[in-house]
Amino acid sequence: MELVVSPINRTLNVKAGANLLDVLRQNDVPVSYSCMAGRCGTCRCKVLKGKVLEAGGHESQTPMVTGDRFVLACQTVLAEDCTIEIPEPDEVVVHPARIAKATVVAIEDLTHDVKRLLLQLPKPLSYSPGQYVQLQVGTGLVRPYSMAGVGADGTLEFHIRIVPDGRCTQHIAKNLQPGAALRVTGPLGTAYLRRNHAGPMICIAGSTGLAPILSIVRGALAHGMTNPIHVYFGVRAPRDLYGEEWLRELAAAHSNLKLHVVITTGNEHPGRRSGLVTEAVAADWADANGARAYVCGPPAMVEATTLLLQQRGVPRDHIYADAFYPTGT
Ligand SMILES: Cc1cc2nc3c(=O)[nH]c(=O)nc-3n(C[C@H](O)[C@H](O)[C@H](O)COP(=O)(O)OP(=O)(O)OC[C@H]3O[C@@H](n4cnc5c(N)ncnc54)[C@H](O)[C@@H]3O)c2cc1C
Ligand code: FES
Repeated sequence: MELVVSPINRTLNVKAGANLLDVLRQNDVPVSYSCMAGRCGTCRCKVLKGKVLEAGGHESQTPMVTGDRFVLACQTVLAEDCTIEIPEPDEVVVHPARIAKATVVAIEDLTHDVKRLLLQLPKPLSYSPGQYVQLQVGTGLVRPYSMAGVGADGTLEFHIRIVPDGRCTQHIAKNLQPGAALRVTGPLGTAYLRRNHAGPMICIAGSTGLAPILSIVRGALAHGMTNPIHVYFGVRAPRDLYGEEWLRELAAAHSNLKLHVVITTGNEHPGRRSGLVTEAVAADWADANGARAYVCGPPAMVEATTLLLQQRGVPRDHIYADAFYPTGT
């Protein structure tokens, strides 16, 4: 049977029952993947024609998204002739996920409820700016956290908001000390920097969503990207603000970076904006055609902003979003 791969127009001869990701890798089709276990979403692609099965054997139940079928290639079994579309073949990132032991180097307060956690790995973890890892901080305490740096030297930086009654974050706040050993699994995630795009980048962070947005901005500037970069950083009140000096330093050194700090309530600072971060983006971007957007932070903010950006002309495929949904069990 035949598998047609769009938009690169390759036709592959495949056996019924083959795993889609295996087939793509064996045939050197450029495709991103990481966990190979259906968790990270990196290998997502679209089925344009034909039926595929879930790795478990049942016909794919993957929900239709705006009329198209998206599947995770690593969890997809080919059952008949079909056509798939792989995303942006020129933007492939392959950083196979690994499990590593890390040591806490520092843990410090950034605000009344946000901590900066620095970990050291025995050897650097290769990842794309914007990705995250699963941190195991104690028995049964595993949660995803996004890196804030670009990771060249084996150090991983995280910004973690301590949630009242949060099992993992309360443990981090109360028990984690320099020298403690943690387990890191990753990298994971698809909301990473697209280096081949030359148009405007709209980077929107809410609260500790600043971590992956900083990583993306730092990565873009370190890579010499000269795109106009518009950073919107929203927090609820002045006491929730952190990292502004890092952003201002980057903006002072790079004229292509424009910074908007947006405070929901209680702003009295003339250099900052008042209201919701989504309102600031709406006021500035009547037409965002040609831009790509990176959106990270609280789920409600990510959902509202993603909808707004689509209304302002950014296709869904060009909005790279990580909503910090609780994943605890
Ligand atoms: C891809 C991804 C990346 C993430 N990156 C980061 C990051 O860089 N920094 C960061 O701080 N968090 C990040 N998170 C969120 C993080 O993984 C945890 O969900 C969060 O730290 C809460 O864990 P917990 O064990 O303390 O709370 P849990 O014990 O899991 O939850 C306890 C209670 O608090 C509620 N709750 C959980 N999170 C919040 C919240 N943020 N606000 C209000 N109530 C909440 C839950 O619904 C539950 O009722 C990310 C999440 C995802 C999915
Ligand atoms: S590689 Fe398929 S979901 Fe992670």
